[in-house]
Amino acid sequence: MEQQIETLQQQLKQQEKLASLGMLSAGIAHEIQNPLNFVINFSKMSNKLLGDLTDIVEDNEDKLSDDDREEVEDIIADLKENMGKIVEHGERAISIIQGILLVSRGKEDEFLPTDVCKLVKEYVWLSYHAMRANHKGFNLSIHEDYQEGMAQVMVIPQDLSRAILNLMNNACYTVWHKSQRAEADYTPQVTISVKSADGNIIIGIADNGEGMTDEVKQRLYENFFTTKPVGQGTGLGMAITRDIIENKHGGKLSFESEEGKGTTFTLTIPTKR
Ligand SMILES: Nc1ncnc2c1ncn2[C@@H]1O[C@H](COP(=O)(O)OP(=O)(O)OP(=O)(O)O)[C@@H](O)[C@H]1O
Ligand SMILES: [Mg+2]
Repeated sequence: MEQQIETLQQQLKQQEKLASLGMLSAGIAHEIQNPLNFVINFSKMSNKLLGDLTDIVEDNEDKLSDDDREEVEDIIADLKENMGKIVEHGERAISIIQGILLVSRGKEDEFLPTDVCKLVKEYVWLSYHAMRANHKGFNLSIHEDYQEGMAQVMVIPQDLSRAILNLMNNACYTVWHKSQRAEADYTPQVTISVKSADGNIIIGIADNGEGMTDEVKQRLYENFFTTKPVGQGTGLGMAITRDIIENKHGGKLSFESEEGKGTTFTLTIPTKR
């Protein structure tokens, strides 16, 4: 009997060790994923810039000697290849990390202690840079207000980041779309805030974009409802976002919107699990 107890205790210890190792590697893997995404996105952006550079060189062909031109073109070609390699290997690293996450997390929907301000910030800027890479010459101003010294909160980080990314993408899209036909003094702007209050984390994402018509307000959470051109939106973002906030996190997703003025989304997530 005593011997059995001892064996069981040892097994338990071993499993505890494995479990905490799993948690640790999941945490590390998740942390590495974000900077890696930045590396990949910036490389893609740089590649686009190299395309611009090629155009400039072509336009100014007559101002360069043949030798100089050839050298510049060679350098650009090499840089492009290097950027391509960075993207390729970065993406390989991402898939390795996703493998680790799948193995070590066990369950998909796991709540992990998370620095919500940091998570929101990272995805806000990821969306911002993606927007700028896709729409050359477009810029928007981002205002951020994160409560200082906020404790970690149990959330499902991968899901929450998807929700933030969708809300932020929508906000960036509407200010961009508005800027295409707005008066010259229009400044596209998105305001982000994260604070804790009354046992909740409250995240606000406000844009001064186009706002929503009554029809859009009513159909916002419908699957496949989109006002974006074909290929630019699937119309699933808001349905998924609401599922993540309300069903998975037991929180509340609400919005206020005025046509022509803009929209504010508010996420309220309970901190007690
Ligand atoms: N901040 C916003 N301002 C104005 N309209 C918005 C905003 N957010 C969402 N919408 C409207 O709601 C629609 C649905 O949004 P949703 O995120 O579900 O889909 P989508 O952005 O069109 O596509 P995707 O599936 O790629 O997210 C959008 O097409 C847009 O018309
Ligand atoms: Mg969307």
